[in-house]
Amino acid sequence: MEQTLDFVKKNENRFLEELFELLRIPSVSADSKYKPEVARAAEFIRTSLQHAGADNVEICPTAGHPIVYGEKIIDPKLKTVIVYGHYDVQPADPVNLWTTPPFEPTLRDGKIYARGSCDDKGQVFMHIKAFESMMKTNSLPCNVRFMIEGEEEVGSSNLGAWVKENKHRLKGDVILISDTSIIANDVPSIEAGLRGLSYVEVEVTGPNRDLHSGVYGGAVGNPIQVLCQMITSMKDENNHITIPGFYEDVIELSKDERAELNKTPYNEAEYKKDLGVNELAGERGYTTLERTGIRPTLELNGIWGGYTGEGSKTVLPSQAFAKISMRLVPNQSSEKITKLFEDHFAKLAPKSVRVKVRPHHGGEPVVTPTDSVAFKAASMAMETTFGKKPIPTRGGGSIPIVALFEKELGLKSVLMGFGLDSDLIHSPNEHYGVFNFMKGIETIPLFFRNFANLSAGK
Ligand code: BES
Ligand code: MN
Ligand code: MN
Repeated sequence: MEQTLDFVKKNENRFLEELFELLRIPSVSADSKYKPEVARAAEFIRTSLQHAGADNVEICPTAGHPIVYGEKIIDPKLKTVIVYGHYDVQPADPVNLWTTPPFEPTLRDGKIYARGSCDDKGQVFMHIKAFESMMKTNSLPCNVRFMIEGEEEVGSSNLGAWVKENKHRLKGDVILISDTSIIANDVPSIEAGLRGLSYVEVEVTGPNRDLHSGVYGGAVGNPIQVLCQMITSMKDENNHITIPGFYEDVIELSKDERAELNKTPYNEAEYKKDLGVNELAGERGYTTLERTGIRPTLELNGIWGGYTGEGSKTVLPSQAFAKISMRLVPNQSSEKITKLFEDHFAKLAPKSVRVKVRPHHGGEPVVTPTDSVAFKAASMAMETTFGKKPIPTRGGGSIPIVALFEKELGLKSVLMGFGLDSDLIHSPNEHYGVFNFMKGIETIPLFFRNFANLSAGK
């Protein structure tokens, strides 16, 4: 192990240079104009895995962006860790808010600024470099398979089919994922759950064309106003969601479980200051940690319609639109919630308009065990490298494919992420600390060793 860590330290500069190369590729999965770049990022991952010493490395085409697979089976009798991550990134807009261009990685104050630096190229690359370090020092203690996809940020729509067709290649004992955050660099944590997601786009149509707001205004229902009223009515004065049946399947945590969760370090004053808000807002009766960890939500992601250009245009628009996401907690089903939303939205609509709901991607919530061998291996590894035992937390984000791995492969995941909530993932000026990147590369080999040892009863 000493040798491996030595190798990691000696190669820090090269690891960073290589990561920068990967970060220069604008692999934005949402935008078809970047398709060749997404393919180039897949090539880069393939080459990196090959150089690191993986066998049978392959770029597997899908109906969307490809999946990169690679493996090192040192002994079929030993345990196998499946590493999952994604090389695609969110769009960089609004680009003018970046201090340095999103695809020209820049080191400032010990942080790597670039789209994807934290989510998830930087964290995927930690795994490749940790693997390389184990290979180069002859210390890989068990088998490993890599499955790095290019469509996580757009809902992993083709990964499910690929997993079903490639079960023979995905024989393993645990899935290891670094795509989440820790509480702080001196407060390590491991997310032991992720929220699910229902994502819909709604369309409200009034008159069959845009109208003069003076000639017709006052007599015809305005789709923007109607949409706003419909949306407003979906939460009551306690910020409780009013869709009938929405909370039906939610498992309420016991008093003790809630008390335990609320022990997680959290400073409300700092939280507000960081966000530039004077007051927080959320479901009444729950703390911020609960609101983002164990409670379902409904959020507007975008809303548009009518005239939004320069100056003024007196128009009563024909249509209005919104994108709405609902985060789900254990036992809620994405399909059921989407259906409840569709029914409710149709019922809410006054007769002056017609409405459509288009479901987008969804995903199921997950809770991961904290008493498994793999979780212990991760916890011990982080305790060694951070000098403190990591706290299990509940993450607010979603990685929909985790539930699918459980269903299709019968495998649980360990969410050993190294990002910070303040890394601005999905926002302008996304960054990742060199500290976090290196900490990850040092911790991963320890996870492998602990997992191999604990599995063998050592
Ligand atoms: N890595 C994130 C999820 C995440 C971030 C989990 C921080 C925990 C802490 C992932 O890439 C992501 O952004 N997921 C999307 C869902 C996806 C279907 C677009 C999300 O959570 O919005
Ligand atoms: Mn991610
Ligand atoms: Mn993301």
